[in-house]
Amino acid sequence: MSQKLVLRGNRPLKGTIRAQGAKNAALPVMASALLLNGGTLELSRVPDLHDIQTMSDLLRNLGADVRFSQGQMRILTPEELDWATPPALVRKMRASSLVLGPLLARCHRAVLPLPGGCAIGSRPIDLHLKGLAKMGAEIRLEHGSVHAEAKRLKGARIYLDFPSVGATENLLMAAVLAEGETVIENAAREPEISNLAEALVRMGGQIEGQGTGTIRVRGVETLHGTDIQIIPDRIEASTYILAGVVTGGDVTVTGMEPEHLEALLAKLEEAGTRLSVGKDSVRTLPGGTLSAVSLKTLPYPGFPTDLQPQIMAALCLAKGTSVIQERVFESRFLHVSELKRMGCQIELQGDTAIITGVEHLTGAEVRATDLRAGAALVLAGLAASGYTCIYQMGHILRGYEMMVEKLQCLGGEAETVPCDENEGPKF
Ligand code: EPZ
Repeated sequence: MSQKLVLRGNRPLKGTIRAQGAKNAALPVMASALLLNGGTLELSRVPDLHDIQTMSDLLRNLGADVRFSQGQMRILTPEELDWATPPALVRKMRASSLVLGPLLARCHRAVLPLPGGCAIGSRPIDLHLKGLAKMGAEIRLEHGSVHAEAKRLKGARIYLDFPSVGATENLLMAAVLAEGETVIENAAREPEISNLAEALVRMGGQIEGQGTGTIRVRGVETLHGTDIQIIPDRIEASTYILAGVVTGGDVTVTGMEPEHLEALLAKLEEAGTRLSVGKDSVRTLPGGTLSAVSLKTLPYPGFPTDLQPQIMAALCLAKGTSVIQERVFESRFLHVSELKRMGCQIELQGDTAIITGVEHLTGAEVRATDLRAGAALVLAGLAASGYTCIYQMGHILRGYEMMVEKLQCLGGEAETVPCDENEGPKF
């Protein structure tokens, strides 16, 4: 069985919701628990999502004991760990590759099926492997899996051709137990990297420069258990802010870090929306305008690629013509054809989308192709007149905790309806 999301749009959302913990911070921090040797990692503000469940199952498969309830997670890592990851789980979620660095550092061995591509691109891990090889790991590809071995990783100076989030996280976790100093140049600067580094430092790791393009790590012999709070999810918070904007509503998102979404707030201000930004909240005020703007997606602190489908849905209702260039992934436009079914006017030219704003959208039957594409369809459905039915809602549940409840709390008419696995839009 599968689920579809049914929305009735064209009504201003009103009310206050609290941001969830960041999925993309919780996943690497969970993986870092593998670095402990008979220790316990306590995490708070962990969102209850399918991806979190998948990572928990993966850690359990490797021998860790994972307990999770009401946002609180406790991971106990035994002295004996398995180092061969189960293919079925790894294929379910690309972020499984984040266990590679910790397993190599802790068990000196790891076997990881090459994570497949997905709807937004080929998603290689060559930068992860190149960096680990620089640290002395023997890496070979056999039967579709990465086999990695290293007696003890050695610190190295690593330059990332691209500030890859996952590669930075894997190398950071590998470096904390390596011998000597590691310098990661052109490192990713996302807030989720700093949250991971905070966890590693609390475990006894020696790290400087997190949040900048150059991270220095001095390896230590062993790490100890600790507790860590996961940062707010800047992408989920931004999605609900955009829900307030596209419905002309009055939505407040609390429990968040506004400085983590500077790029979005600057773009919305440029477009003429009215926002009230507090210390840990953002509120959309009615009466603003939504004029066309142009942007390109870039590594943090640039405009986040994970918000590109959602801002595109909003700009479909802007006055004028907007241009969005996707510079991070090679094919992150699968949401375009679905948005066009609702009346959006979008023309694709290579890595660029040209969006001509329209007066209104109409509800339709559409399909979520990936997590953030699904979020874009939710935003379009909230703004459209009539009913929108979004199939393959499972994609959305990977990253949005209690989305239906949150939309209902804001006065949105939304419900989940069970449907057959292969049921889809009636063309
Ligand atoms: C993380 O993925 C996020 N996932 C993604 O969020 C996010 O879109 C992405 O960072 C960019 O911000 C998690 O944190 C779990 P990358 P990641 O390595 O680490 C290329 C979501 O919706 N690349 O920064 O896989 C890659 O192909 C998800 O929550 C290589 O070429 O992203 C891509 O074009 C989707 N070789 C670009 O770099 C490598 O070895 C950015 O990838 C690694 C990456």
